[in-house]
Amino acid sequence: MVREDVIPRPPWALPSSGLMLGIRQPPEPRPNTMPHPIVKTVASSGCNSYLLGCPTTRRCLLVDPKVGQESVYAGLIDSYGFELLATLDTHTHADHLSASSRYLGEGVELWMSGDTECQRSKRALAGGDHVQVGELEFEVLEVPGHTPDSIAIFGHGLVLTGDSLFIGGLARADFRGSDPALLFDSVTERLMALPDQTLVFPGHNYDDLLFSTIGRERQLNESLKHESGSQYAKALGATEGQGNTPAVDAALACNLERDPDLPESPPNVAACCASPTGGPAADSIAEVSPEEAIEVLEELVASSSWVDVREPWEFQQGHIPLTRSIPLSELGFALEDLRATQPLTISCRSGVRSMTAARTLERLGVAHGPKNLSGGILRWQELDYPVEGEHVS
Ligand SMILES: [Fe+2]
Repeated sequence: MVREDVIPRPPWALPSSGLMLGIRQPPEPRPNTMPHPIVKTVASSGCNSYLLGCPTTRRCLLVDPKVGQESVYAGLIDSYGFELLATLDTHTHADHLSASSRYLGEGVELWMSGDTECQRSKRALAGGDHVQVGELEFEVLEVPGHTPDSIAIFGHGLVLTGDSLFIGGLARADFRGSDPALLFDSVTERLMALPDQTLVFPGHNYDDLLFSTIGRERQLNESLKHESGSQYAKALGATEGQGNTPAVDAALACNLERDPDLPESPPNVAACCASPTGGPAADSIAEVSPEEAIEVLEELVASSSWVDVREPWEFQQGHIPLTRSIPLSELGFALEDLRATQPLTISCRSGVRSMTAARTLERLGVAHGPKNLSGGILRWQELDYPVEGEHVS
């Protein structure tokens, strides 16, 4: 499923060189206008990678990089003015090829659990360790079960769960080395003990949702409603190793190698989670046309209920007058504010990213009947409706 439409590059972004890894020197740090991390999700065939950036130092961590997505990461690193500090693999992947060896070849450190059998040079992490990304500090949490070396990182109101807790489910536990009871126990003991408002960014999602919260998963996640790990394992009925198809084994072998010979764009190997997410049905989010929206524009902007989720530089270049800019990368940090401004109208460039935002906010219970601007600002401009910004004459 496509989560992003085409994101225009900001005026300051420069072309990347070499392998398009985006590790050139960044621009000078800009003033701190965001007291929270910048979290940029890159979704590719159900696999999520994350750029986790410090808003003051512009250093960033690339979590679970996937082979074939390097140019996407490089474009975002350029666009945000980030400097890539390290990559982090939340576990030894079996469903796709990790790009960590490519970044190692460019001098970018790999962070990974010390329990991994991966042969790559790495900073070995253990539960309780703290990792620094610029001025941001995150705690490493061990969440074994999907694999023995699964970790999550927690801090600043969010947790990147890797393959452990998903939105509406848990990770698969039918690979060699998987342990469904341990997965349930480590998630309930380590992740579900986090504050309810903690944002949950999972390693996979198949339902066009951006994130959840610990509190919402406590309410809605059916996999967590078992009384114990052993009950969950019994209900799951998974047999250890049944998920190890030849393709999975080939991907795993590659991800264990020190210097693998990686293809440019490998096909996906397997889905890592088949659990239903319980997200809103695809057609449950109402669309509003620009022709309808302009009739009530004054009313919408007066209530601060029209949100534009494009990147900050897209908003600066041209936006619908008086609409609010809350980029997708910051949406999770504005939930209380958004909860107070209902019903929401959400827009982006073409209507794709705003639909993701609407679905995410609806499932969280933050938005009630949000409306998605069909065709986005592109359609709005075609109709010659008012736009203001730097690139508007
Ligand atoms: Fe996985």
